[in-house]
Amino acid sequence: MSVSTEFLNKYNVSGPRYTSYPPANFFNNAFSVSDYIGELKASNTQTPKDISIYIHIPFCPCRCHFCGCSTVIAQKKSIVEQYIDAMKTEISNVASHLDLNRKVTQIHWGGGTPNSIEMAFIRDIMNHIRGIFTIAPKAEIAMECSPAYLEFSDIDELAEMGFNRMSLGIQDFREDVLKIVNRMGPKHPVQDIVAYLRTKGFRGINLDFIYGLPLQTAESFKETLKQAIAIRPDRIVTFSYAHVPWVKKAQKILEKTGLPGPEEKMEMLINTIAQLEEAGYISIGIDHFVLPDDDLAIAYQEKKLHRNFQGYCTLETTGQVYGFGASAIGQFWGAYAQNIKEFPKYIEAIESTGYAIERGYKLNNEEQIIRTIVNNIMCNGVLSFDEVAAQFNLSGQDIKNLVRFNPKNFNDFIVDGLMDLKDDQIRVHDKGFIFARNIAMALDPAFNQEENIYSKTV
Ligand SMILES: C[S@@+](CC[C@H](N)C(=O)[O-])C[C@H]1O[C@@H](n2cnc3c(N)ncnc32)[C@H](O)[C@@H]1O
Ligand code: SF4
Repeated sequence: MSVSTEFLNKYNVSGPRYTSYPPANFFNNAFSVSDYIGELKASNTQTPKDISIYIHIPFCPCRCHFCGCSTVIAQKKSIVEQYIDAMKTEISNVASHLDLNRKVTQIHWGGGTPNSIEMAFIRDIMNHIRGIFTIAPKAEIAMECSPAYLEFSDIDELAEMGFNRMSLGIQDFREDVLKIVNRMGPKHPVQDIVAYLRTKGFRGINLDFIYGLPLQTAESFKETLKQAIAIRPDRIVTFSYAHVPWVKKAQKILEKTGLPGPEEKMEMLINTIAQLEEAGYISIGIDHFVLPDDDLAIAYQEKKLHRNFQGYCTLETTGQVYGFGASAIGQFWGAYAQNIKEFPKYIEAIESTGYAIERGYKLNNEEQIIRTIVNNIMCNGVLSFDEVAAQFNLSGQDIKNLVRFNPKNFNDFIVDGLMDLKDDQIRVHDKGFIFARNIAMALDPAFNQEENIYSKTV
């Protein structure tokens, strides 16, 4: 598949990334702790029925200037300990409302940098989880790690605790790029880390990169990806750098060196798609590339790919997502619930009330249907109005009325060869998959182009 600059320019419009539906900017403070407890209880009988756990560790030893994540800079051991204790309390309190006959199929540790805290803290939480929940034999237990702080002995310990997936934040292999963004490079060669992870039974090994950082050029990013391809991880993610200095003030520093312009970024994206596909990677969405034998590639072929705030996963491993820690998001069939973002306030809330919910969103029936439609397009590139209708005991026409379906809105996509619309089915072509969110926007009645507050794709 090759993607032309003309198409990228045409479809590079602002819009939601649909990590959730409705998007996170719809979450509001009217959602209370008692709403949360009601949703926890309701989640016991909702589908997918299994349990997914998200653990947020906000700590990082130093701040990368580009960072858009929920992080705080290194804290004393006693503070980390207080945070871990608060999380254990939160896990116990939430679990007291759950049907624990359900199995845990996914545990995801994100941050921040989870591997920057002592392994004993990680073990403490894992033991706590194992003491309460039943973990399914094939559960995916994953951690987002920075290779700057990763020792081989840490990998041994993580494997021993049951971890079997890892994502490594590389961002760029060029030392001068890392230096200018205030990021430490890998402590050990990345190819050695990946090889060692494999010997320890880790699968779905992922490397994260960012394009659009200072000093990067289309040529230099190609070189970085060449090195990545030589390592042959199962997954490669290439994020477009999201520059939002009005939210993340540290990003302003990068403007001093200057950032690659939109055309250079576009060239980086076009090269990335061509380079990774030529190397045998399959593109899943705009920024994820996976080897054909990876679980995500198989799930995509079988139309069983799923997505949550932690990224893509398979329908086999996903469940109702219970989020723990500062800023963590619970993702249930009926609602989203997000914890307080600032970690001291999070600890205070847990210690005083046992919960730390700050905002959330309850979905009505119509929104649950639209979410199903958006997910069908975003994850698997197919939408059958009749199939969605059957799922909700409605008719295909009811579904069309709900999304204010107008075939004319899809003319451009069809003429440009991005999708077809036949027998009441939308089928996104391989070439159109990176524009799946544009197609989803055309099916989202809540998306208002005039009030668009979202970032662009590239
Ligand atoms: C929680 S971090 C991964 C773990 C670890 N903290 C690290 O940086 O290696 C998640 C990923 O978000 C991506 N990221 C962070 N800030 C970003 C930004 N402003 N724009 C695009 N991607 C970003 C990076 O690729 C990073 O690897
Ligand atoms: S290490 Fe990761 S989470 Fe921490 S500041 Fe850097 S990009 Fe952000």
